Amino acid sequence: MSARLVVAVDGPAAAGKGTLARALAAALDLPYLDTGLLYRAVGRRALDAGLPPSGDASGQARALQPADLLRRDLRTPEVDRAASLVASQPSVRAALLAFQRGFGASHGAVLDGRDIGTVVFPDAPVKLFVTASLRARAERRWRQLHDATGLDPAAQSAAIDAVQAELQARDAADAARQAAPLRAAADAVWIDSDRLDAGAVLREALRIVEARIAEARAAETA
Ligand code: CDP
Repeated sequence: MSARLVVAVDGPAAAGKGTLARALAAALDLPYLDTGLLYRAVGRRALDAGLPPSGDASGQARALQPADLLRRDLRTPEVDRAASLVASQPSVRAALLAFQRGFGASHGAVLDGRDIGTVVFPDAPVKLFVTASLRARAERRWRQLHDATGLDPAAQSAAIDAVQAELQARDAADAARQAAPLRAAADAVWIDSDRLDAGAVLREALRIVEARIAEARAAETA
């Protein structure tokens, strides 16, 4: 079964989905796809083309090239917002769906995003929903993006507040949209990473994967 195993990893912004999904893929010897990068690349192309914020970006999605995913400017606050805006368009999501399904279909894969367990692979045997408190996620994202050297605690706290407000706004938009909103699949297993480091999150996820594989084997032989 693990030869074509699909593991769906969903959750809100900066929850540690990417860190977990990459490590899981390495541990299970599966390909890994960061689906957020697809929406970021479409958002980047829409910004470069001068599209208005709610302009139809489906042409940008259909024209996406591998090189677009290698750009080094896909994780700026401006692209965070643009990605979330284009991701709310059903035609953009439709244009990216076949690629995501094809990626996981032949050899299995670990994919992370918002709708992997609900829309892209609703039959995935393993679905994880990774979350953490808003403050913990804001602190993590701030550390990923900024160098704290020389900042006094008050300035650091204010900067984290600003990142937190951006995360909260993006999660609210992602959860409220009509098209593939951010939500846990009914059969997803939740992992709260607030008090767990990356190694502990990986161990917990591997335990869940093994349990699901054992359940599926038992069901096949029953
Ligand atoms: O890294 P972070 O969690 O901040 O975001 P990301 O996973 O790179 O996703 C960026 C944006 O793309 C999200 O805010 C969503 O609006 C959108 N997205 C989506 O709609 N569906 C996915 N499967 C992945 C990302």
